[in-house]
Amino acid sequence: MTRFTGKSIIVTGAGSGIGRAAALLFAAEGGHVIAADLTEGAEETARLIGEAGGTAKAIRIDAGSEPDVIAAVDLAVAEYGGLDIVFANAGISGGMANIFDTTPELMAEVLRVNLIGPFLAIKHGAPRIAEHARETGRGGAIVLTASVAGIRSGAGSPAYSASKAGVINLAAVAAQQLSGSNVRVNALCPGLTETGMTQGVFDYAREAGKIGKVGRLNPLRRGAQPEELARAALFLASDDASYVNGQALTVDGGLSSSHPVTRQEYGLTAV
Ligand SMILES: NC(=O)c1ccc[n+]([C@@H]2O[C@H](COP(=O)([O-])OP(=O)(O)OC[C@H]3O[C@@H](n4cnc5c(N)ncnc54)[C@H](O)[C@@H]3O)[C@@H](O)[C@H]2O)c1
Repeated sequence: MTRFTGKSIIVTGAGSGIGRAAALLFAAEGGHVIAADLTEGAEETARLIGEAGGTAKAIRIDAGSEPDVIAAVDLAVAEYGGLDIVFANAGISGGMANIFDTTPELMAEVLRVNLIGPFLAIKHGAPRIAEHARETGRGGAIVLTASVAGIRSGAGSPAYSASKAGVINLAAVAAQQLSGSNVRVNALCPGLTETGMTQGVFDYAREAGKIGKVGRLNPLRRGAQPEELARAALFLASDDASYVNGQALTVDGGLSSSHPVTRQEYGLTAV
């Protein structure tokens, strides 16, 4: 038995980056995955899982659309007999516009995908997870992808940062409102990670021979790979985190552990 043997798991944004890495890892540990994405990446992830001997179905959804989220939940229940876990991870950056260049339409679209998406995942996923938890006697979990951008400024546009701050709060509110249901809700706050969303940054730095500068502000002095975030998401979704609820887990190489000061170099850190 592995941590997710036989568990029914929806991953949104499963077509790329952190979502794909998590879908593959869930399936490798026996999870039955619904790979949900706006793009054909959903089918590709399901194919990769199948090739590796795992179980997955793909569905094209807009994670910020209520009927689409309901369809993903219904598919999980129909295919796998219930729902245990949702990793509400789909997100968009919306670009780097400052406040004065941000239109209300851009603000609304970023909030729709990044914040209303996780809200819908809770609204429609939690009742089914709670129902299944009552039947099986096993608790369930929802993990929402927020960002270091949601903790303080400096890591995203106003729209993106506000949306991710909302996600952190949503996890706390939902954990409280699901009291007694045996469904935990937590947020994951990634730092800079090499995915579709940030590929341009990494590619540009490599071409310019400056990859060593990417992520240099954190004490690990590098960006993350998607699997490093996916493993943290799996922790929050698993029974290893059975008493972790309503929290935001920051996985950023230590970036947010300091105020912005000139780092002192001591002993080994000077190498
Ligand atoms: N990459 C980073 O540095 C970083 C840092 C902090 C937070 N995040 C967050 O991590 C999450 C995953 O992003 P990623 O970095 O893996 O990027 P990514 O672009 O590689 O993956 C995002 C996936 O979400 C899908 N998607 C976008 N809008 C969607 C919608 N409306 N409905 C369904 N699917 C949709 C995309 O098609 C894509 O497959 C996002 O919420 C992002 O905001 C990323």
